Amino acid sequence: MIENNVEQFTSLIPQKADLEAVFSAAEPFQRLMSYYRCAIMEVETKFRVLDVQLALEGENNPIETIKTRLKKPESILAKLQRRNLPLSLESIEQNLFDIAGVRVICSFPEDIYKLADSFIRQDDVTLIERKDYIQTPKPNGYRSLHLIVETPIFLQQEKRMMKVEVQLRTIAMDFWASLEHKLRYKKELDSHVDYEHISQKLRACADMSALLDNQMEAIRNQITGL
Ligand code: GTP
Ligand code: MG
Repeated sequence: MIENNVEQFTSLIPQKADLEAVFSAAEPFQRLMSYYRCAIMEVETKFRVLDVQLALEGENNPIETIKTRLKKPESILAKLQRRNLPLSLESIEQNLFDIAGVRVICSFPEDIYKLADSFIRQDDVTLIERKDYIQTPKPNGYRSLHLIVETPIFLQQEKRMMKVEVQLRTIAMDFWASLEHKLRYKKELDSHVDYEHISQKLRACADMSALLDNQMEAIRNQITGL
């Protein structure tokens, strides 16, 4: 009986070959993640430069805050598995475009388009995909401008193209999205939440926040036009 247990237990300990595979895969993975971190820095700097430059043109700084995030290894794995994609570094680079994320939060919707256009026009930024959920909000009310871009990072020996997901939104859009995210998370944990009822309320809030954005912008333009 005891012997049996020991056998069961030892079968759970990773074999040497498995451990070797884990360790040899870890270094290239960390390296790839550090490249994505560099790409985040490049993109963040580009927006900070635009912020300073647009402020010099007489208006207030268009950017309220910039948030960045690197997708967690467990989320990367989960996404590859969900999409039935190979679990390899090549597969990550070819298929997942949101490993590096930069969120640019502005006060006014017009500034989002101004920033996005100036960013995309830069000759080392290649636009891969643009989704305008401000012009066409998602059915749940989600609004933001999403860009997938490719941009180079300059390493000691080479130049490497990296993909970055940029989300541009107003403070109001960000406020809404963070509350909606909480609901989504709660729904996963707790099936008793009256999701339909809360979703309806959230959709109404999305409309109100869009109205608020537009009216605040109209007031801003009246003030700056004076
Ligand atoms: P993903 O598989 O999540 O990347 O979906 P997708 O490829 O259709 O991308 P999409 O551009 O629609 O959304 C990507 C990201 O935008 C998400 O990871 C979220 O950060 C954000 N997002 C998109 N839709 C919503 C939404 O309805 N609510 C909130 N809170 N965030 C959203
Ligand atoms: Mg995504």
